[in-house]
Amino acid sequence: MNKKKRTAILISGRGSNMRSLVEAARAPDYPAEIVLVASNRPEAEGVAWAVEQGLPTVVVDHKNFAARADFERTLQSALDTYGVELIALAGFMRLMTPDFVEHWRDRMINIHPSLLPSFKGLHTHEQAIAAGVKIAGCTVHFVRAEMDAGPIIAQAAVPVLSGDTAETLAVRILKAEHRVYPAALRLVAAGEARCDREKVVISSDVSETNPLYSPAI
Ligand code: GRF
Repeated sequence: MNKKKRTAILISGRGSNMRSLVEAARAPDYPAEIVLVASNRPEAEGVAWAVEQGLPTVVVDHKNFAARADFERTLQSALDTYGVELIALAGFMRLMTPDFVEHWRDRMINIHPSLLPSFKGLHTHEQAIAAGVKIAGCTVHFVRAEMDAGPIIAQAAVPVLSGDTAETLAVRILKAEHRVYPAALRLVAAGEARCDREKVVISSDVSETNPLYSPAI
């Protein structure tokens, strides 16, 4: 296998997607190595878990910076210190400046709990319930300056059941997130997912039975 891609996970909260990435990356043949967990919130639950696991962890508290660009400069120097090559946003709740996004173009990915381009932004599950869709899901995409936009790497679908609330739907989607995010990071780190005119081409994507696309339940 080629050298593992040095990957940072950026979080702001609970960190369950971070855990799924960290756990997947323990497999010897996984093409990404988690070399840093960074949080913009010192109290994030995920920070405590990362520290417990002995992962290099930094907190760059956005409240200590007057401008977004200053916050990003400090974050970037942590990323440089650890020789980071790929960034996985996992519940990271800060918008990045276009300069930062451009610097990490096609090297920074995010997970969003909807089937993009539907239901961008906050309160995603409420939006899905309000729209009455029968299928919901999650999307892993390359990050672009516009929020929750960018070439789609992988998606997983789950049913919306009668009687679902935003909370019950979120639980079902989260299970799919934990399956699809490690699979998507694997593709990106292995160089099997590349952007071509703002669409992602997946070299191993040869069959309709690709497990990436099968429903989670
Ligand atoms: C997830 O639903 C993710 O899709 C969204 O924020 C949530 C983060 O959850 N971007 P966790 O911190 O990974 O548990």
